[in-house]
This record gives sequence, structure tokens and C-alpha cells, in this order.
Amino acid sequence: MNPIAATVLKRFKESFASEPALYFSPGRINLIGEHVDYNDGFVMPAAINKGVYYAIAENQSNDIHFYAMDFDEWLSIAITDVKKISGWKNYVLSVINEFLLLGCKINGFDCVFAGDIPRGSGMSSSAAVEGGLAFALNEMLHTGLNRVGLALLCQRAEHNYPNVNCGIMDQFANMMGKQEQVLLLDCRSMQHQYFPLHMKGYKIVLLNSNVQHTLISGEYNTRRQRCEEGLSILKSQLKNIQSFRDITKIADLQVYKSNMPEKVYNCCLYVIEEIARAKKAAELLQQDNLIAFGKLMYATHEGLSKLYEVSCAELDFLVELASRNRNVIGARLMGGGFGGCTINLVAVDAIDQFIEETSKAYQQHFDIIPAAYIVETGDGTKEIDVTL
Ligand code: GLA
Repeated sequence: MNPIAATVLKRFKESFASEPALYFSPGRINLIGEHVDYNDGFVMPAAINKGVYYAIAENQSNDIHFYAMDFDEWLSIAITDVKKISGWKNYVLSVINEFLLLGCKINGFDCVFAGDIPRGSGMSSSAAVEGGLAFALNEMLHTGLNRVGLALLCQRAEHNYPNVNCGIMDQFANMMGKQEQVLLLDCRSMQHQYFPLHMKGYKIVLLNSNVQHTLISGEYNTRRQRCEEGLSILKSQLKNIQSFRDITKIADLQVYKSNMPEKVYNCCLYVIEEIARAKKAAELLQQDNLIAFGKLMYATHEGLSKLYEVSCAELDFLVELASRNRNVIGARLMGGGFGGCTINLVAVDAIDQFIEETSKAYQQHFDIIPAAYIVETGDGTKEIDVTL
């Protein structure tokens, strides 16, 4: 058994008298399609083998007890008192609240959880926390929601108490991921397909800048508002468009440049370009053209940094170094931005050297030690056999 799973199980048994069920809920990477999930775009995420482990059992009372091992914090609350509090508590309580809003009768339960995704790293620890609990409650309460239904419930939960107006990408990857597969998700229709990752001599390496982005929910929501403002201006002028993807020529956007604030225009420009890039990238990946795919990743970073303004000096530095390394064919910031990880496509033979050189230069420049992970994809949220 995974060591974190074993620790969670042990801690549960030390704290409570019952036999729990055990769940694993993964984080995610995203190859391309950033900040377009809430703009009806296309994204290419995959679930990874890092995430959150949950041990959980009903307790025949009306009280819920959580122990968050990573914070060494308890939360005990009556079901009738579920409300917005703060920090990690908002994520679990908001999931419970969504089940209550569906009219489910929730009995008291005990729960211990812990994970190995660094917070604020852009690998979506929040979707992993939400997804593990939602999956467990769905089983416990026999709610019968399917995986897409659970992903949507978790997205609503993140909007509600934590007040992050996220798109669907993270929760979808968390529920629907499959080992060795990348998802191509159309965030407008929710249609999706899987295709295998043929990495042909390359691996995906994440470099964590160790600059945390946990306090940026305000900035995230602002980007979303800028896009909404831009789209409503465009819709008022161009009667036949529903969303950004219906604008296929940048010239059609440029006409309305003077109708909107500069930052709003820049966000619209980025989104239209990124939707086109993600579509193109999916074709390239299916043709096993990793080199061309990697170039699009660099273009995405440029857009995220200059137009969408969600990068920071540390991430720009890491991507710049990668772009000068001939063993790296693509790199960009991953996830919401303002810190967290870059995602890099690195030649297998050169991974150690890349990590060493980049880490050294980064440390010299910022006095921060970065962390590196070689990504392994994995399955979506699932129950784990406690006897193994
Ligand atoms: C966060 C959000 C996602 C998505 C990404 C940016 O991870 O939760 O919905 O918008 O940022 O692509």
C-alpha cells in the first residue's frame, strides 16, 4: 500500500473505533489549454499519481469529525451547523453542503485525510480534496451520481464556500482521468476523448517554483470577469457568436479593440489564441509531433505572461531557462498561475542535468529551492482495497 494511504489508515484506526473505506483522489497536469475551461475552450489534462487519500466511515451520530493530517488540525461539526469557515475546512464543508443542497440526508461520519500534492503548486490539490470526499459521500449515501455529475458538484463546491470561480477542468480530470491517457475535453459540450501519451524519448517534468499561489483567488476571479466583460461586448456587436471559440480570426476581434479596456482586450486575445492553440495541439499530439506541440506550449506561456498576466518573475525565469536548453522542447506555467509549477517536455537522457542546472540557477537568482517531479499519469478518484 502507498505509504501515505497506510498512514491515513493507521491514524484513522487510532482515532476512531470503526473500519473505514479508503479512497485515492488525484491531482492533475494540463498539457495545454490554460484559462480556457471557463471560456468554453478545449483543455488537455491528465490525472496524476499524486493526490489525496481519504479514510472515512459513518459514526451513527449527527456529527462530522475531520482530521487533516497535513495541517495537523481537527474539525468537528454537527451536520446542521455546516457553514463557510476558512482554509481547507471550506473545501470539505462546501462539498457536504452541495450534497445537502441536493436534498441528501447525511449521517455523521469520521474522516482522516492527507496528500502529497504541495498546496498552491498548480496541480490542483483543491480538486483532489473535493473529489475524494464527494466520491466517498456518493458511495456512503448511495446518491448515484456518475463521475461527471460528481465533477460538476465539486466545481459548484469550489465556487461556493472557497469562492473560487473555477472552470471544470480540474474536477473533470480528477474524476475522469485514466492511467497513461490524456483527456481532450471540450468544456462547452463536455464531450471528451482519451488518447495515449506517446512521449517518444521525452518525459513530462514539473518544476515547482515554490512560490505559492493560494492567495490569488481574487486575481483568478478578476481574469474571469475580464473575459465575461469582453465577451459581452463582442456578443453585442457580433450577433452570431456564443463564445470565444466562434471567433476564428484575430482581425474580427481587433475591430473592437477601442470598445474595451486594454486589459479586457488582452484577455480576449489570449483566450481566442489559446483555444485555437489547444485544438491544433490535440492534432499534433495525435500525429506524435511532439516538437511542434512543444512550440505551442512556449507560445501559451508567452500569452499567459504578457496578455493574461498570470505569470510571475519566478515562472518566467524557469520557462526562459528551459527555452534555452536544447533538451527541452516545450515549457510553460501550468494551472492558474502566479506561482506553482512549470510543465516541461524534457529528453529522457537529459532530465537529471536539466533539473540540476535549472534548480541551481533558480536558487542563485531567487534564493528559493525549487522542487522537481517526473510525472506519472494515473486513474481518476477511486476506492482502494484496505486489505492490500
Ligand atoms: C485552475 C482552475 C481551472 C483552470 C485553471 C487554469 O486550476 O481550477 O478551472 O481555470 O486554473 O487553466
